[in-house]
Amino acid sequence: MTDTLTPVLTDDWDAERSWTLATYEGRGGYDALRKALAMAPDDIIAAVKDSGLRGRGGAGFPTGMKWGFIPQDAATEAGAKPKYLVVNADESEPGTCKDTPLLMATPHTLVEGVIISSFAIRAHTAFIYIRGEVLHVIRRVQAAVAEAYAAGHLGTDIHGSGYDLDVVVHAGAGAYICGEETALLEGLEGRRGQPRLRPPFPAVAGLYASPTVINNVESIASVPSIIGNGAAWFASMGTEKSKGFGIFSLSGHVTRPGQYEAPLGITLRELIDLAGGMRAGHELKFWTPGGSSTPLLTHEHLDVPLDFEGVAGVGSMLGTRALQLFDETTCVVRAVLRWTEFYKHESCGKCTPCREGTWWLVQTLARLENGEGQESDLEMLLDQCENILGRSFCALADGATSPISSSIAFFRDEYLAHLSHGGCPFDPAASTLFETAGASA
Ligand SMILES: Cc1cc2nc3c(=O)[nH]c(=O)nc-3n(C[C@H](O)[C@H](O)[C@H](O)COP(=O)(O)O)c2cc1C
Ligand code: SF4
Repeated sequence: MTDTLTPVLTDDWDAERSWTLATYEGRGGYDALRKALAMAPDDIIAAVKDSGLRGRGGAGFPTGMKWGFIPQDAATEAGAKPKYLVVNADESEPGTCKDTPLLMATPHTLVEGVIISSFAIRAHTAFIYIRGEVLHVIRRVQAAVAEAYAAGHLGTDIHGSGYDLDVVVHAGAGAYICGEETALLEGLEGRRGQPRLRPPFPAVAGLYASPTVINNVESIASVPSIIGNGAAWFASMGTEKSKGFGIFSLSGHVTRPGQYEAPLGITLRELIDLAGGMRAGHELKFWTPGGSSTPLLTHEHLDVPLDFEGVAGVGSMLGTRALQLFDETTCVVRAVLRWTEFYKHESCGKCTPCREGTWWLVQTLARLENGEGQESDLEMLLDQCENILGRSFCALADGATSPISSSIAFFRDEYLAHLSHGGCPFDPAASTLFETAGASA
């Protein structure tokens, strides 16, 4: 692997009016589309498979393989139905901040990826499902889609290829669960966003009971560069089983938080160096590798390769590469309580272990944080986690247990210190990054 930054998706972010079609085309944008339209759709799928691209939305499923599941034999019931591409731009996981800046800076990277990907899977309608709260992003993507129509990149007979594609930008109502792909489909169909039972999987019966590919923004935005530069170019970056580059979002107690695009396999130590180090005078205490639903890691894990296998090897998950960094001023119990409150709030209520369990987790954690609990509450918390993990309908609930069980594994003494101290032993102001003078709680 290499250890330098590899700006590809982020390369144009500092260009003048980077979000416009003129700037994008001026830097080679939509060249990959012309190349793709001259290819056979199956060859595009093969190129994406060969590149080794794995889904950037968290689970890391191979993208080309997912596209290959779409039935294309018109003699079968599923193969005869329309096919759909749905882009997941719900991005709501705490700490995750890569799709939103990408859509603001260079929405045409996604639009071009949508057209190439739809052509590959023989879809004639694609949806971009954007989290409802980010109105500025919705407006920007709508404007980019309108520009693409006006330039003939979308619509009928695209560049004389005979291929037709319409793109619909859909604003979600604003719910973390709508990022779960089947809840997203429910939302798109106008129903309450709750996950669906699988099988059938979306590749066979997804949107409107038709074959559907659902991919993350970053996955689809990576496609033009793969087609433009070739699968081997993409596969030359990253590690053996985690190819290519990805956007790593650093937030929290780091000198220069932001998005760092690097080959998969870079380490947190290298990223912190690139980000100017931890905030002056402080050191790393704990961090999330892929958002708050991935088990916490500590300073012991600074040299773990940030690829799917490396992070799984130390008991966590690469997830969305949302690296939230916390220094020694942070109370881990308090941080975990905040995340758990989020999961309780976002639980869609469909299944009992999550709906009731996240409520109980908050009660127990709040008691501990206030120093009102007892040592046996730690075992009760772990027992609650055990009764939620793997027994709930979707991965939201599994994710809710991750910060709790991992923080107890690494910081049991800190939980106990709350009991001996009769409350939280930390000063919350010490971990705050904004100016606290004059601010009220
Ligand atoms: C609670 C929950 C929230 C999710 N939120 C998102 C999201 O905001 N964006 C996303 O791309 N994937 C999200 N996912 C993962 C999706 O279900 C799905 O795996 C992903 O969109 C597939 O795209 P990919 O293969 O390109 O990664 C979420 C999953 C769960 C369980
Ligand atoms: S695990 Fe939670 S979010 Fe998922 S279906 Fe059950 S209640 Fe809904």
